[in-house]
Amino acid sequence: MTALHLQNIQKSYGVTKVIHGIDLKIDDGEFIVFVGPSGCGKSTLLRMIAGLENITDGEMFIGGARVNDIPPSQRGIAMVFQSYALYPHMTVYDNMAFGMKIAKAPKEDIDKRVQAAAEILQLTPYLDRLPKALSGGQRQRVAIGRAIVRNPKVFLFDEPLSNLDAALRVATRIEIAKLKSSMPETTMIYVTHDQVEAMTLADRIVVLSAGHIEQVGAPIELYEKPANLFVARFIGSPAMNLQPARIENTGEHTVINLAGRQATVPIPSPENLAGASAHFGVRPEDLRIADDDDHLLEGTIHFVERLGEVTNIYLNVKDVDEPVVVKVPGVQKHDKGDRLRITANPEKMHLFTEEGRSFLYL
Ligand SMILES: Nc1ncnc2c1ncn2[C@@H]1O[C@H](COP(=O)(O)OP(=O)(O)O)[C@@H](O)[C@H]1O
Ligand SMILES: [Mg+2]
Repeated sequence: MTALHLQNIQKSYGVTKVIHGIDLKIDDGEFIVFVGPSGCGKSTLLRMIAGLENITDGEMFIGGARVNDIPPSQRGIAMVFQSYALYPHMTVYDNMAFGMKIAKAPKEDIDKRVQAAAEILQLTPYLDRLPKALSGGQRQRVAIGRAIVRNPKVFLFDEPLSNLDAALRVATRIEIAKLKSSMPETTMIYVTHDQVEAMTLADRIVVLSAGHIEQVGAPIELYEKPANLFVARFIGSPAMNLQPARIENTGEHTVINLAGRQATVPIPSPENLAGASAHFGVRPEDLRIADDDDHLLEGTIHFVERLGEVTNIYLNVKDVDEPVVVKVPGVQKHDKGDRLRITANPEKMHLFTEEGRSFLYL
């Protein structure tokens, strides 16, 4: 069953339109991640789902019922924010129980729910503590607990980990992944600008830019088959290498001219693109050093990043503006000034039109 249906959802603040018509169906129990650069409208969209912002135009359905005019408290939704704002003078238990107490729920019901939530989040030993006696990660778990206790049908998270330091972020991310599997019925929508969170948590990712959807798909689908240049650049780190190319021959396989060399890309292209400009893409991890004549590109190393597990080599290639990044496993000895030939697995190559659309979706 469809948990959530967004139909041409739009939002304007005064004359400024910030959400430009979002169409999206989310299934019951799905974990959806909204990802995109700062200011693209992630929070605004989430707040419209929660009912904290008016919908300027379009229709929103939760469990089949139109909710445009339904107040937040009646939408069966709970939201966890970046700033978790616990009540400092209340214990963990009371912080989690507060909402149900206000709603005058019976004491035994409150206790059952709080204990169950504490169990899921491994907060049972801390129930009598005040927030100040907890780590940042534990406090964020209390904020999540407060939302679980409300037994929501839909769980919304707005960048819940961005106030935590790197190690805690990883640990809490794993907690959220576990939370997802312990609440399989609950639909979750999670907003982040962090692509690692998006890749690791999502059943499906919604990539947003400037108030519209660029692509919706499973994490690996977006990584392997980005629909356009925006998604190609956004998913993956270091970002996909993108270079201007010219289409020399169309057909089942496309022959391109790349910085003066010819390459055959096993992606079909329509006849009308013969002679057209295009963008050739290949991820740094899909390039490798080639000592033979059958290389794709050749260049001079101008920068090397040794991260231990991998080495990122930045190559200046003649007639190409941007350096080409090659990600090779382990510690590499190559240094600045060295000449290097590289090649790519043809199956891992990407082609985009001049306007930025992937050839796979033409
Ligand atoms: N209350 C508001 N009034 C006017 N503009 C707003 C308001 N809230 C957000 N915006 C604008 O809407 C756009 C999207 O904001 P937001 O949803 O917060 O982005 P994100 O969460 O993706 O960083 C931004 O350009 C922001 O400046
Ligand atoms: Mg935001």
